[in-house]
Amino acid sequence: MRMSIDATRSTYPHPNPRVGAVLVSPDGDVLSVAAHSAAGEPHAETLALEGASITVGATLVVNLEPCNHVARTGPCTEAIIDSGVAHVVVGAVDPDARVSGTGIERLRDAGIDVEVGVLNEEVVANDRGYFHHRTMGTPRVTLKLAATLDGQAAAADGTSRWITSRDARTDVHRLRSENDVVIVGAGTVVADDPALTVRLEDYSGPQPRPVVIAGRRSLPLDRKIMQRDPIIFTASGEYLVDPIEVIRDLGERGIVSALIEGGPSIAASFLDAGVVDEIVWYVGAKLARGTGIPALPGAFETMADITELTFQSVQQVGPDVRISATLTKAR
Ligand SMILES: NC(=O)c1ccc[n+]([C@@H]2O[C@H](COP(=O)([O-])OP(=O)(O)OC[C@H]3O[C@@H](n4cnc5c(N)ncnc54)[C@H](OP(=O)(O)O)[C@@H]3O)[C@@H](O)[C@H]2O)c1
Repeated sequence: MRMSIDATRSTYPHPNPRVGAVLVSPDGDVLSVAAHSAAGEPHAETLALEGASITVGATLVVNLEPCNHVARTGPCTEAIIDSGVAHVVVGAVDPDARVSGTGIERLRDAGIDVEVGVLNEEVVANDRGYFHHRTMGTPRVTLKLAATLDGQAAAADGTSRWITSRDARTDVHRLRSENDVVIVGAGTVVADDPALTVRLEDYSGPQPRPVVIAGRRSLPLDRKIMQRDPIIFTASGEYLVDPIEVIRDLGERGIVSALIEGGPSIAASFLDAGVVDEIVWYVGAKLARGTGIPALPGAFETMADITELTFQSVQQVGPDVRISATLTKAR
């Protein structure tokens, strides 16, 4: 199963899932390994079957339940049944409404021995956006913030380069590479003119598409991300852009994962709307020693207003600290 997960490492098939398949002989020899590379391309299961000299009596290990419906390719279940494979080992049930257990049922009905749930958590962790999107219909949203130890995202004059180190910023590029889109507010586009691209050595995957949350001011057209085919949401009249509408729209476009990169107003707005699934907070080894632009604006009047978090991981990144947290109890 770990081999089938590893086979997906450099694949970017969203909105389709990341699927890897390994065919194993009755003696335990690996006969073939394959992965689904992109939407519209052949599925991992059929590639693994086609890539093996013998299939009868073999075991097919696949991280996600095989599909049982005709989309751009035929159902994998029929190819598996026709191949004479004796056992199928599945990592996770496919939450897509068109599959959701029916693939497993079809294989069992055909007399194939099917084991389900092997390394389930690792399989889900390898493609969190997909599982979230197929369950909720919206992308999984990660909010990234970078602040001084005392919580400032930028100085009062708008300067913020650099609150965190090069190591932390490289880590942000990795985070970008794991998301289909990067969301940014008009204030950040104006102040920082970020490119929001993945700039990592040896990275050859797709660039996340920029999403701009525009406001009442007009967006300057000479900004870097305006050349990158951004999806732009615009405030209408006195109303600011509604984060719930944003993620609903992105979900309908088949976007399974979104990274919010600020600024503070957008961060607070998406948090208030309850659409943030994970926070990745970089604590720069710096003190602002005063109030400039706080990482999260707004008043903290009373403890009843608190948002409770569960820290999932705390890591040192160069001189800085990276904390990943999920929301336990929102406001
Ligand atoms: N440390 C970090 O992690 C980090 C990250 C990014 C940026 N920054 C810094 O943050 C500063 C910019 O922050 P910011 O708060 O002014 O900008 P922002 O959050 O990027 O954008 C805020 C603007 O977006 C528009 N908007 C539309 N819908 C909105 C909604 N629902 N909620 C909030 N805003 C909405 C409004 O534009 P209108 O005013 O036109 O209506 C608003 O002023 C810069 O100094 C930048 O360097 C720091």
